[in-house]
Amino acid sequence: MQLNRKTEEWQRIDAAHHIHPFTNPQVIAKEGARVFVRGEGIYLEDSEERRFIDAMAGLWCVQLGYGRRELADAAHRQMLELAYYNTFFKTSTPPIATLSERLAALTPAGLDHFLFANSGSEAVDTAVRLIRHFWNLQGHSEKKVIVSRELGYHGSTLAAASVGGWPSMHAHGDLPLPDFEHVIPPYWYVHGGDRSPEEFGIAAARAIEQRILEVGPERVAAFFAEPVIGAGGVIVPPSTYWPEVQRICRKHDVLLVVDEVICGFGRTGRWWGSETYGIEPDLMTMAKGLTSGYVPLSALALGPRVARTMMQRDFAHGFTYSGHPTAAAVALENIRILEEEGIVERVGSDTGPYLQEQLRNALGDHPLVGEVRGVGLLAAVELVEDRETRRLFPENRKVGELCWERCLAHGLIPRAIRDVMALSPPLVATRADVDEIVRRLAAAIDETAGLLRVAGK
Ligand SMILES: Cc1ncc(COP(=O)(O)O)c(C=O)c1O
Repeated sequence: MQLNRKTEEWQRIDAAHHIHPFTNPQVIAKEGARVFVRGEGIYLEDSEERRFIDAMAGLWCVQLGYGRRELADAAHRQMLELAYYNTFFKTSTPPIATLSERLAALTPAGLDHFLFANSGSEAVDTAVRLIRHFWNLQGHSEKKVIVSRELGYHGSTLAAASVGGWPSMHAHGDLPLPDFEHVIPPYWYVHGGDRSPEEFGIAAARAIEQRILEVGPERVAAFFAEPVIGAGGVIVPPSTYWPEVQRICRKHDVLLVVDEVICGFGRTGRWWGSETYGIEPDLMTMAKGLTSGYVPLSALALGPRVARTMMQRDFAHGFTYSGHPTAAAVALENIRILEEEGIVERVGSDTGPYLQEQLRNALGDHPLVGEVRGVGLLAAVELVEDRETRRLFPENRKVGELCWERCLAHGLIPRAIRDVMALSPPLVATRADVDEIVRRLAAAIDETAGLLRVAGK
């Protein structure tokens, strides 16, 4: 295809000097990056004037969609008033004080104190460090081990990637660090075998208890988990999983850290995944949807048990941009819009259930589809070789990638995670938008099935 001169130039300088996350530079150099130049609502436009539905809300974060003037205005106003000041030396600013109060009202009961950072990884990293310090202060300096799940994603810093359960990340940089343990995720489709999802949910939770007992409860500091595993494949836990996890953590005095970086701010149809699943976290991380991704901001929320100790003394931790006033001003405006437009309620009672229903209607019986799963505006379609036996495709067939290419050809951007087609559209998506997303995805999956049949001959 003939690209316009500007696109070629951007691709050339990008490939020459920009190292992309999780991407082979050789591939970028050969194929050229797709250059996005503007966004409006749920749509993105690239430098060739092609329009796409962003069915991933960027990286699971653009809750309000693109081009919201109110968010730009909030940043603009705050930048002119006081663009930046730090929070280190007994100082604060109105936006971060106000945001702390707003978040205390918005988060589940008891989570009333917040440390701020810039990314989900930093919030998770902060949690790991704070938990170690907390247990030291409690006189339990032997409590150091963090338990989490295979396929869980918690970020890219040394600690966050160690909490995460991705072998491909552990292979880069000699991870996990010592004292990080991983157990199976509640992935019924792959690990469930003959058990019902409910039976398997209990078994997957008991795998955590088993590991706690092997390590010794006196050595286990915390269990980290996303309410629904996102980047690891939109793994929706069976209904029995979370109550059992909560019981196990309490029984063995293990802090429960819920990573709400994807699920927070309405993704699952409630403000927090913790509400959707009835979880009572000791600590909670949030990022992404906190500002709809317009500027970087993350937070770690402390529940009463940890706060009681940490509010007594200083914690030698923080970043130049902890509590950045401009980011806080955008977050406040973002929360105001989410509330005033009733967006979270709409996801919970209308557009979320509608997406799940339409996906099941369109694709539930498709020969290439093993499972359609999801909650709220978070969904996945698992492409499989054999529906009857739940057999996945061999990795080297790259079926997810093939399907993703077909989606792009239809102007739809989902994410391919292995052979799982993940969807996480902006929360402002309407029923008509949902119809269009499902129509384009179904067409791409049909074409993928056709291509596989041809290749199979
Ligand atoms: C659940 C979860 N935690 C943490 C992170 C890391 O966030 P960031 O990429 O902002 O560092 C992510 C990113 O996708 C995530 O999905």
